Amino acid sequence: MGADHHRLPRPLHVSFLSSLFFCLLLLSHADFILAEDDHKASSSPIVSSSPAAYQPLDNYLVDCGSSSETMLDDGRMFKSDSQSTSYLSTGEDVKASVDSIPSSAFSNSTPSSMQVLYKTARIFSSESTYTFFISKPGKHWVRLYFFPVHHPQYDLKTAVFTVNMGNYVLLHDFSVASDTKLVFKEYLVNATERLSLVFKPKKDSHAFINAIEVVSIPEELLKDSASTVPQGNIVNGLSNYAIEVAYRLNIGGPTITPKNDTLSRTWVPDAPYNVFPQGAQVVTGSDIKYQPARGITQLIAPDLIYASAERMTTESYSQTMAPNFNLTWVMNVDASFSYLIRMHFCDIVSKSLHDLYFNVYINGFMGVSGLDLSTETGALAGAYYTDLVLNAMAITNGSIMVQVGPTSDSGLPNAILNGLEVMKLSNKANSLDGLFTADGSFQGGYRKMKILAYLGLVMGFLAMLFLGIIFLRWQKRPLDWQKRNSFSTWLLPIPIHGSDCSFLSSKSKSSSFYSNQGLGKFFTFNELQNATQNFDEKAVIGVGGFGKVYIGTLEDGTKVAIKRGDHGSEQGINEFQTEIQMLSKLRHRHLVSLIGFCDENSEMILVYEYMANGVLRDHLYGANQPTLSWKQRLEICIGAARGLHYLHTGTKQGIIHRDVKTTNILLDENFDAKVADFGLSKSAAMEQGHVSTAVKGSFGYLDPEYFRRQQLTEKSDVYSFGVVLFEVLSVRAVICPNLPRDQVSLAEWAMQWHRKGMIEKIVDPKIAGSINGESLKKFAEVAEKCLGEYGVDRPSMGDVLWSLEYSLQLQVASSQIDQPEDKSKLIGLEGASENDHDPRASPAVLAAASDDSAITVGFQLQFPHVGNVSGR
Ligand SMILES: *[C@@H]1O[C@H](CO)[C@@H](O)[C@H](O)[C@H]1NC(C)=O
Ligand SMILES: *[C@@H]1O[C@H](CO)[C@@H](O)[C@H](O)[C@H]1NC(C)=O
Ligand SMILES: *[C@@H]1O[C@H](CO)[C@@H](O)[C@H](O)[C@H]1NC(C)=O
Ligand SMILES: *[C@@H]1O[C@H](CO)[C@@H](O)[C@H](O)[C@H]1NC(C)=O
Repeated sequence: MGADHHRLPRPLHVSFLSSLFFCLLLLSHADFILAEDDHKASSSPIVSSSPAAYQPLDNYLVDCGSSSETMLDDGRMFKSDSQSTSYLSTGEDVKASVDSIPSSAFSNSTPSSMQVLYKTARIFSSESTYTFFISKPGKHWVRLYFFPVHHPQYDLKTAVFTVNMGNYVLLHDFSVASDTKLVFKEYLVNATERLSLVFKPKKDSHAFINAIEVVSIPEELLKDSASTVPQGNIVNGLSNYAIEVAYRLNIGGPTITPKNDTLSRTWVPDAPYNVFPQGAQVVTGSDIKYQPARGITQLIAPDLIYASAERMTTESYSQTMAPNFNLTWVMNVDASFSYLIRMHFCDIVSKSLHDLYFNVYINGFMGVSGLDLSTETGALAGAYYTDLVLNAMAITNGSIMVQVGPTSDSGLPNAILNGLEVMKLSNKANSLDGLFTADGSFQGGYRKMKILAYLGLVMGFLAMLFLGIIFLRWQKRPLDWQKRNSFSTWLLPIPIHGSDCSFLSSKSKSSSFYSNQGLGKFFTFNELQNATQNFDEKAVIGVGGFGKVYIGTLEDGTKVAIKRGDHGSEQGINEFQTEIQMLSKLRHRHLVSLIGFCDENSEMILVYEYMANGVLRDHLYGANQPTLSWKQRLEICIGAARGLHYLHTGTKQGIIHRDVKTTNILLDENFDAKVADFGLSKSAAMEQGHVSTAVKGSFGYLDPEYFRRQQLTEKSDVYSFGVVLFEVLSVRAVICPNLPRDQVSLAEWAMQWHRKGMIEKIVDPKIAGSINGESLKKFAEVAEKCLGEYGVDRPSMGDVLWSLEYSLQLQVASSQIDQPEDKSKLIGLEGASENDHDPRASPAVLAAASDDSAITVGFQLQFPHVGNVSGR
């Protein structure tokens, strides 16, 4: 052990010199600083590229076994062995050094200046620990350099050892096994007060190390959350994982050495991993723009990464006319780990904004659908990156395949990628290498037992819950329950929550950290054939753009709705995947539950809970359906509004339905409304406030602002819902092509009557006699607001819900009073007096009417149910 004063991590004069240097740096960049202030003043989030300086607070560099300090060409000084003995506590150790490394060891991925670090090593014949004191807690780089240099006594080529860092296993029973390759390992680990690296030789073997780096990482480099593939969820807590960098590629560019990367990273060319180089064309750009406010700075990746890219080659357009391919990179990985995949993008190919629009796939799963870099960065040549976590279960081939390619609706197909980082995430054993923990216990078997124990517990709990639900349902059974079919059909359907997770087919090994997020039950094609009498035409209960919907009965007697997609439509595949991904994230009383799916024999079949009363539209227009009362209609609208409100606010990202209409609102046996059909839904990147996308939806319900600006917000759903409200009120088709031009669209027609103050003229005659005027007024008022020209003027779904509940209260209160005078406040088409149309007259009448009920209403309104919605 060295003397205590050696332990000062950075001698005083070094910090003094570095601050002097920093001051000089500041002075020499004074004009840049001014320029940036100007940017701030104009509140522009974009700044142009400029040299980045980063001073790591902790910066330990050790060239083990070396007798003198080693200066690299990037200016970094590695301490000699004797200068670093204070960090080391060891039993026996030996220094080794050679001066010649076989030239075959120099791959072009190792910068020549770094090779000097491999020339000497320190050998340990018993457990030894390097301890570094950490002044800035948080993520640190640990970089380890290995090469089996020659030693007369020890054969390093056959040395087998384990390297731990705190509770994390970095290498387990590791052996370089070759004296022709330099081994470089790079980790990102959390450290608090001290960071200790333990080298543990296997019995009768020894350990060695050639060089070590322990360096602070700037905070913005690693976000705590990322979106998962294939499920599309957000996973948090990334900072709790130890990470090993597996690949770091500069796509379409040269090797970037630590000299050209402020964070001393090495980026290698992508050529060995590009499996379809004929399709790729290298492009270069300059003047890269960063967005420090969103954490995108030069530290994320240097200019040089963003300034080069590969795009889909233009030659193939002219040759084949249909550029039907993806740019594809394949990298071998350890299939039992999950990986963090960071993709760097920068639109250096487009001439104008919003020209570039493409999909990102990981191992064949949609990673980002319709990525529009202009929306993300607001500028051309704007740096951007996206993080995806690939679940170990989705690595079936021992490899990660990253693809970018055209969307089904791209105009001129193109896609680019500028940089790619693939990082391994530590597993349940806190290991990056195998299933042993740092204290040597094996996690695999232990985990299985633990899983079994949990499974038992969970099943017991579920059984009790099930009995509880049956009991509660029995208590609340409708009076006429005996008339309704049978007890069992009344009890069902019960949504099956992630009971079976075989979406990822053969691999049943659940080695990932969120494997419990099921995608519903997997049905075999055979099962569904049986359920529908081989898709008998008589079982068809609906036909949509996607395909036919059948009613089916599962083996256990559950009635289900089975949606079978038409073959061969790419559109269909996307919507199929979207629907599975969306619905697997969503559980709500007012959203139709997905029970499972089948993708066998390239079928696309979705299985939903059966909604006995079908779609809302049939109950409005259907000839032989009993008329829905005003109260029922209000309750249905409220249910649907609740479902949409949950979509917009109940999930972390917020989801936009995009296709709200009366055929996508389904009714169960109790006329409870549920929103269905998420094939077009999009996650809203809410920080952006909108999603830029090709216009889709249903004519007549489409938000005109969305149509004009192609920017989707949740207010587009609000608009469509406004149309639904008027449709429910007036039972008129949303588009009547035969009417005069200004009456063709229901939305316009209803607004005209509303402006005239004669909304009662458009009420469905079948119910006009029973609507309370005040309830109608409130309803029409909110419907009108939903149809606002601009999204910002429209209410949120929460506000809509609130107003509808108010309208229902007014209706219920008025029907409870049941006094003869009340009839005067009920409007009817024939019976409506002129006073009823007079805006000045009606409030007075209504004030009298709601005197009694006002107390109830006012009381109820203090507790609007809106706030609870997402909790359901
Ligand atoms: C890692 O560090 C971050 C902050 O730097 C902290 O939020 C997180 O809890 C740490 N994780 C562990 C496991 O210590
Ligand atoms: C790296 O930086 C040096 C100057 O520090 C520059 O001369 C060299 O061209 C850069 N390398 C690349 C690949 O741009
Ligand atoms: C690109 O790859 C994805 C996933 O592997 C695939 O679904 C898609 O069809 C491919 N696109 C083209 C144009 O080949
Ligand atoms: C599996 O790997 C082979 C060869 O590496 C490749 O040809 C094949 O496309 C891969 N399959 C998948 C599903 O990634």
